[in-house]
Amino acid sequence: MTDRPSYYITTPIYYVNDVPHIGHAYTTLACDVLARFKRLDGFDVMFLTGTDEHGQKVEKSAEKAGVDPQAFCDRVSERFRDLAKAMNFSNDQFIRTTEDRHKKAVQHLWKELVAKGYIYEDKYAGWYSVRDEAFYGEAELIDGPDGAKVAPTGAPVEWVEEPSFFFKLSAFEDKLLELYDTQEDFVLPKSRLNEVRSFVKGGLEDLSISRTTFSWGVPVPDVPGHIMYVWIDALTNYLTAIGYPDTDSETYEKYWPANVHMVGKDILRFHAVYWPAFLMAADLPVPQRVFAHGWWTNEGQKISKSLGNVIDPFALIESHGLDPVRFFLLREVPFGNDGDFSERAFLIRCNADLSNNFGNLAQRSLSMIFKNCDGTVPTPGAFSDADKAILAAVEGLLPVVRGHMDRQAFNLALDAIWGVVGEANVYIANEAPWTLKKTDPERMGTVLYVTAECVRQLAILIQPFMPMAMEKMLDQMAVEGRGFDTLGEAGRLKPGAAIAQPQGVFPRFEVPAGEGAA
Ligand code: MSP
Repeated sequence: MTDRPSYYITTPIYYVNDVPHIGHAYTTLACDVLARFKRLDGFDVMFLTGTDEHGQKVEKSAEKAGVDPQAFCDRVSERFRDLAKAMNFSNDQFIRTTEDRHKKAVQHLWKELVAKGYIYEDKYAGWYSVRDEAFYGEAELIDGPDGAKVAPTGAPVEWVEEPSFFFKLSAFEDKLLELYDTQEDFVLPKSRLNEVRSFVKGGLEDLSISRTTFSWGVPVPDVPGHIMYVWIDALTNYLTAIGYPDTDSETYEKYWPANVHMVGKDILRFHAVYWPAFLMAADLPVPQRVFAHGWWTNEGQKISKSLGNVIDPFALIESHGLDPVRFFLLREVPFGNDGDFSERAFLIRCNADLSNNFGNLAQRSLSMIFKNCDGTVPTPGAFSDADKAILAAVEGLLPVVRGHMDRQAFNLALDAIWGVVGEANVYIANEAPWTLKKTDPERMGTVLYVTAECVRQLAILIQPFMPMAMEKMLDQMAVEGRGFDTLGEAGRLKPGAAIAQPQGVFPRFEVPAGEGAA
């Protein structure tokens, strides 16, 4: 057991009906950046991702592919693990709902809900959308383009009538409303909490949680013919991974309740209404936060297989390199809002912020040190007010960035960091070490030392976003300690230490002609 504070962060588990696209990469990226940040900040982190392999949608996709569902799941799930490698995700576990440990956990939870009197048998007659794997009330349906009723998401619905077990969701209305009122920031962004609250206030009906018309799912314990509704199965993955049903296990004790469930806005209701209700019913603590992020469109259009405009993360990494992709996805759009992916915006943003701004700062200062100080960190003289001011700006960043990260405001964290990158560029331009080289070499050494110190600390802070590029940069400077405890004076560059020949770590992209500054 460590005495470091724990931090448990989860991604949604991805349906294996389809290969991964940029939307999936985005959700996990946000979690990866947060997990890396927390590790560097001294936390004992558990970062979980995985695949959601049961349900009608997956069964149908397997059928269409002419493969047995398990073989189909094995194949597609592998692509998600490949994506985790390609995106340099640092997940501690990859869970699959077809694993035995998971079936055990979800069957145990089911029995708990039965024992506590929250499950009863009846018959379901209503609308179901396979694409959303969701039940809809008549009043929620809207008119589709061809006049047929569709789900509010636009997904087709079908009428379903079958014997089913129900969960007494209606018993949790007041408890959920109290949760939303008393647990600070249970749902972020705030506007999304209002949506959830008004959904619950509108009245909750009991939830159908078993199906009998197909078989690809976890069997309901002791009742042949019923399999569990894919969402009760899927949500329980967050418990399985940390040892449930063994609530005395070290991992369960350490990591539950989770700090953040990261989800897309489309699946907020499942996480902020159904999931806490299941947990309360089983007398288990509810997670601390559900963050609902927005959706990406592609050059203004909804991303969809039928439109043929799915952005393939593997191709993007191949053509532009990984770290620029990681940076852009979190820099461009306030986390929580929808965003549009445009290649031009991507290229312009990366050139401006990475190669021109931060890359230039690092390259200029390190090259000058390499050429003019025998390739070793110069010994600084007394610090001037300007030196002290820029160091103070850099050293004041951690609490600010931490505050933004704790609210999943990645773009604000990057804004704050890049604000200081800009100040450091102004500092070096004002101090002009290239002029001091002739007039005052000692002062040049001090300015280069201060600039390199800024680069070191900025690189340490930027590691969660662009781990590979920052590793290269910090390697060039022979920086040893890289945790946030080495920020400030604790990890100052040692005068006389050798640095490697500096090489740019950010590519410069050609921007094709078009509207907007390139
Ligand atoms: N299997 C369920 C989640 C179960 S969690 C217990 C599921 N899977 S999914 O594969 O359909 O979606 C996973 C995540 O990808 C969702 O959070 C969804 O919002 C996200 N995205 C899918 N397309 C997206 C975009 N175009 N943009 C951003 N994220 C999107 O739902």
